[in-house]
Amino acid sequence: MKGVPGVVHTPRRTTQLTLRQTIGAFARYWLAEPKVVAAILALLLGIIAAEAATPIALGELAAVVADRATPGSVSLREPWGALLAAGLAMITAIVLRQLLDRGWNALTVRSMQRLQLDLFARVQRLPAEWHANSFAGATVHRISRARWALDMLSNIIVLRLLQPALLLVVMGGILTWRLPVAGGVFYFLSFLYVIASWQLSARWVRPMSVVSAARDSRLTGALADSITNNATVKSFGAEEREDKLLRGFSDDWATVALPSFNRATDTNAVLQMVWTMAQLSVLGLIGWYAVHSRADVADVAFALSAVAMLSGQLRNLASDIRTIQRAFAEMEDAAEFLVASREVGDISTNCSEVVQDRRPIEGEIAFLNVSFSYPSGGQVYQDLSLTVLAGEHVALVGPSGSGKSTAVKLIQRLYEIDAGVVAIDGKDIREMAPSDLRKLISLVPQEPVLFHRSLAENIAYGRPEASMDDIIKAAKLARAHEFISTLQNGYATFVGERGAKLSGGERQRVAIARAILADRPILLLDEATSSLDTSTERLVQEAIAELAKGRTTIVIAHRLSTIRNADRIMVFDKGMIVEQGSHDQLQRVPNGHYRRLLELSDQPAASHIAKDQPIKPDGKQERQFASEAY
Ligand SMILES: Nc1ncnc2c1ncn2[C@@H]1O[C@H](COP(=O)(O)OP(=O)(O)OP(=O)(O)O)[C@@H](O)[C@H]1O
Ligand SMILES: [Mg+2]
Repeated sequence: MKGVPGVVHTPRRTTQLTLRQTIGAFARYWLAEPKVVAAILALLLGIIAAEAATPIALGELAAVVADRATPGSVSLREPWGALLAAGLAMITAIVLRQLLDRGWNALTVRSMQRLQLDLFARVQRLPAEWHANSFAGATVHRISRARWALDMLSNIIVLRLLQPALLLVVMGGILTWRLPVAGGVFYFLSFLYVIASWQLSARWVRPMSVVSAARDSRLTGALADSITNNATVKSFGAEEREDKLLRGFSDDWATVALPSFNRATDTNAVLQMVWTMAQLSVLGLIGWYAVHSRADVADVAFALSAVAMLSGQLRNLASDIRTIQRAFAEMEDAAEFLVASREVGDISTNCSEVVQDRRPIEGEIAFLNVSFSYPSGGQVYQDLSLTVLAGEHVALVGPSGSGKSTAVKLIQRLYEIDAGVVAIDGKDIREMAPSDLRKLISLVPQEPVLFHRSLAENIAYGRPEASMDDIIKAAKLARAHEFISTLQNGYATFVGERGAKLSGGERQRVAIARAILADRPILLLDEATSSLDTSTERLVQEAIAELAKGRTTIVIAHRLSTIRNADRIMVFDKGMIVEQGSHDQLQRVPNGHYRRLLELSDQPAASHIAKDQPIKPDGKQERQFASEAY
């Protein structure tokens, strides 16, 4: 990435699609309503017939007028019939076109909806790894651009290209019938024009537009990333650095955008030249016919008005082609979501059909000889085995990066393991549909992120049908009710993007309330109370202890005081379990890992070891010590 040092994330393009694949991926959105498409094509043919009739009637009119104007002519033909026919043909074309446009608008809106909903559904189901590697902003941008690209393409292809193309064929046919050589030349030159347009667009304009669209996505992603991190930017006074970084992305885009635009403009000029030559040749031939008395007034008038009509419609062909190229590039950028989801391991759709197992879930979790490394990182586990019994309350402790959160992710099957088995109640979790598996689990993550929806909706996310009473009950248990009731809109308060309008501790309590309400047999708490002050934490711990009853619970904690009551504590180090047992057992192990952590953390739980040490009233200080231990 030229000019942008220090940026490691780029939105991934896992596939380079061909034009055919892109069209294939999107065609079904147009063809979803074949009857409507057929009706639109019928209207289109009607329009072509009316438009082709117009120059014929005009030619007739010219012949009558010329006849009557000739001195000594004995013609008594009236011009009114021809005039009426021309008028009728023109008005019919207008009315039919209006009907077609209306029908097309409705179809386009529905296709756009289908496309967006489908893209969203697929992106949602892409694996956690894909999301970890993608800019949310760029993905959003790609989805919405694809929707508008579909609109643009539909309009241009059907309304602005198909019509003139059909008209060209019909007019050429009539011309050939009347003046064979002129018609032949007209067809030949039009064919050249179409081939030139196609070749120039596909081989010259398109490749550059694809690059330009990809860089545009990257630019948007970078923009969104900086704006999302605005608080960090502010705190380091790094606005200028971010300006410069974005400037790099913008320059990257500009260096391809300009040649891309220019290629389209140049194509336009070349095509106009070709079309002008075609027009001049045909008109020259018709002049030759007229001079040699092989064409009458009606032929000449027809040819002139037909060419004028086509020129009017084809004048924008080049800019239309440019728009098409851009739209294709934008659609290709999003088509990846449609065709690549399985390639990158969409575990949600790949999963074999679940055999509905009606056994009640006990909740025993087992890792058997699990080896795992993140697709983009080093090895986390090598041959790890552990068992958490049904209903057991287990705590995971250990230094930062030792693989505690990873265990929680693997239980949810957010990643595929390299070897071994992760099982629930003795059943390999790969045999369950991921959505069924995840319905067994309540998770309170390390850094809860909330939807910008009401607090009530956020709390009820795991059980949307919950009553307001249940929501309040859960919030009370999680000690969230108190702060929620002080908010002006109470449970109806919207919490800002990612929950930004709440404090870290408040977000945690909302996430705990959500887990309480979801009421699942397995409870995973990853540093769930790390942002709470000591007194609130104690209260929330009571709620968690209550919640943990009868459930398999895995708690990850740095603050060792919070896990003393766990049935078993597993001490992790570098992806291995180096010690396990109850608090009482572990703290007695001389030179044990746990004992060392206790000593370092210097907190109430360690008071047995140094009985006379006063309990620190200040939770913050205690937390600081605890994290320093790692
Ligand atoms: N999405 C990811 N891609 C690549 N590597 C990752 C990813 N997530 C975590 N890792 C790496 O895996 C290792 C284990 O991480 P994990 O999150 O399990 O640690 P942890 O014990 O929970 O640490 P902490 O106490 O800081 O939360 C770390 O070295 C980390 O850098
Ligand atoms: Mg962690």
